[in-house]
Amino acid sequence: MAIQVTPLHPHIGAEVAGIDASVVPDEETLAALWRAIDAHSVLVLKQQSVSDAQLKAFAAPFGPLEIGRAALQGGKRRLDIPEIGDISNLDIDNNIRARDDRRRLDMLGNRLWHTDASYMTVPVVLGMLFAVAVPPASPLGAGETEFADMRAAWDALDDDMKALCEPLIVEHDIFWSRGQIGFTEFAPGEREKYPPSPQKLVRRHPGSGRKTLYLSAHASHIVGWPVADGRLLLHDLNTHATQRQFVYSHKWQTGDLVIWDNRCTMHRGRPHDENAARDLRRATTLDVGSTLDEAA
Ligand code: OGA
Ligand code: MN
Repeated sequence: MAIQVTPLHPHIGAEVAGIDASVVPDEETLAALWRAIDAHSVLVLKQQSVSDAQLKAFAAPFGPLEIGRAALQGGKRRLDIPEIGDISNLDIDNNIRARDDRRRLDMLGNRLWHTDASYMTVPVVLGMLFAVAVPPASPLGAGETEFADMRAAWDALDDDMKALCEPLIVEHDIFWSRGQIGFTEFAPGEREKYPPSPQKLVRRHPGSGRKTLYLSAHASHIVGWPVADGRLLLHDLNTHATQRQFVYSHKWQTGDLVIWDNRCTMHRGRPHDENAARDLRRATTLDVGSTLDEAA
């Protein structure tokens, strides 16, 4: 099936037409989608209609699928398939979660610029979010998802800063990112299950050969530096990398399927009317190893 790719932004994001995500992609379609991902980092597929099972089947040829932190916690879930992440403000009975609901507060960490699961030794590659219900416009916004281009951000650093960053290793920690918004209510045993992970600050994106900054709200400090110095450098890099010229803001419509490469982007959710349902479903592919073992 021939696909049409139309850029949405000078650096990041493209709309892709000619794909039906309820059908498992064949070899040719898979290769075309990878080419588009490698070029544009974020793909938007409009007017899709997929069940959770179809989303899982569509994502599976791209790589082994992640089972997220919430699904691994056990207990009853709203969604049946563990490989489909529940990115919603709904409880297991499809009611909107209370303002002080623990799971809601944990998920508010997604409002900080981040890349998914960088606190895991082996992090993730693709995220695929499918919109089932979208909140209406409100003074706070409509729950947009923003994506920032970490390859363009790297390119825009000056040579001295590139040389400084190149060899650095960063410790990523889910407890650090959640602590930034005052969420410290982790279940007993969570700390042990999710210890911090070291990651390269500068990665080479395999599909494009381009270098990229690997930043995230989970990024706590720089290994071998005083914590304060590392945090301040990461703060400056985050400010640089999330300037508006590097950002594509996705305004959701139901039926949108957005695919992004976590290795070379950051993303964040934006606020919305908390009394309206927002229901996104996510499939996520795992990487094959630690960033520390990647080719420079
Ligand atoms: C995610 C995420 C942001 C949003 O699903 O990984 O960070 O807008 N989502 O819901
Ligand atoms: Mn995320």
